[in-house]
Amino acid sequence: MRCLITGVAGFIGSHLAERLLSEGHEVCGIDVFNDCYPRQVKEQNIEGLLSSSRFDFIEGDLLRLPLVSLLDGVDWVFHLAARAGVRQGWGTEFGRYVDANVLATQRLLEAAVRAGNVRRFICASSSAVYGEATRLPVNEMAPLRPVSPYGVTKVATEQLCMLYHRNYGLPVVILRYFTVYGPRQRPDMAFYRFCSALVSGQPAHVYGDGLQTRDVTYVDDVVEANLLAATAPAAVGMALNIAGGVRVSILEVLDLLGEISGAPLPVVFLDEQRGEAHDTFADISQASLVLGYSPRVGLREGLRRELDYVIAYARSLTSRLYQGWSLSRQDKPATEGGEEGQ
Ligand SMILES: NC(=O)c1ccc[n+]([C@@H]2O[C@H](COP(=O)([O-])OP(=O)(O)OC[C@H]3O[C@@H](n4cnc5c(N)ncnc54)[C@H](O)[C@@H]3O)[C@@H](O)[C@H]2O)c1
Repeated sequence: MRCLITGVAGFIGSHLAERLLSEGHEVCGIDVFNDCYPRQVKEQNIEGLLSSSRFDFIEGDLLRLPLVSLLDGVDWVFHLAARAGVRQGWGTEFGRYVDANVLATQRLLEAAVRAGNVRRFICASSSAVYGEATRLPVNEMAPLRPVSPYGVTKVATEQLCMLYHRNYGLPVVILRYFTVYGPRQRPDMAFYRFCSALVSGQPAHVYGDGLQTRDVTYVDDVVEANLLAATAPAAVGMALNIAGGVRVSILEVLDLLGEISGAPLPVVFLDEQRGEAHDTFADISQASLVLGYSPRVGLREGLRRELDYVIAYARSLTSRLYQGWSLSRQDKPATEGGEEGQ
């Protein structure tokens, strides 16, 4: 199949692209390299993909690219591009969330209808649409009452998808991810920050008392859900929870990381942040029924893989820094000083 992935240089998009290529599909990936975290991290995310002859990369903004022609011949669209994160998005930042999550989605949907060849349009949504759910585990019939500006834009994203499904018959599937983690996780997310703190010998910063709970999903399970959503006939027109089936408190995650690394992590508690639900926990029976989805990677194994990634990434940064430093020393004429010149 020919696939288009938006947000391909991001955390989840890059994993999805790898999996699609490994299964023999063709992938066109789009990313604007937004400023949510450093461009170099995203460039590294897609480094391995660029060597594949079945991968095309287009750097650009969904708000400006010629989407109808880019969608020509595309069978499956995986729409992951977004400005993510529940803590930001207040004040003037909100406009950037609306641009990336609402206007860009509407433009892509419109183009998909006009292109006329899209067989499945799979859109990444979030547990943030529920906000503080009154009953846990939360199922897809629960009211959508986001507690963050980001969540509000994700509700709008979903509504737009359903609008194009109902009016134009676009075969849309919405996947509501619950806290995704694993190698290449976004640096603003808690597990990444905790692993990074471990590696650098700093204390972990926890917002609130650490007793808040999350249903967490390993990235390979999210990727699997996307592939299932591309083919399951009954999924069209549905919004489905995609979660790991593991509900864990932040303090439990820190304990587990300490166990895995053999080094307990000191913690600094900070004020609770606006925009975060206290607890998330998904009922995934619909995804199991409709997609045959079942999470496979447990928390201990997933955390270990993320920690290994953060360690390897820190080492690669150190060696790049060292290479840059020694190259710049070699470039310097001896008269400018430095140890050799003294
Ligand atoms: N990571 C999670 O835990 C999680 C949970 C729920 C939902 N989601 C959703 O999953 C999707 C992927 O999340 P992620 O964690 O990989 O985020 P990410 O920030 O790593 O990736 C998103 C990518 O989209 C790109 N992008 C943003 N706006 C764009 C535009 N207008 N044009 C082209 N590219 C654009 C960014 O540059 C970025 O590389 C997002 O839609 C997010 O809302 C993620």
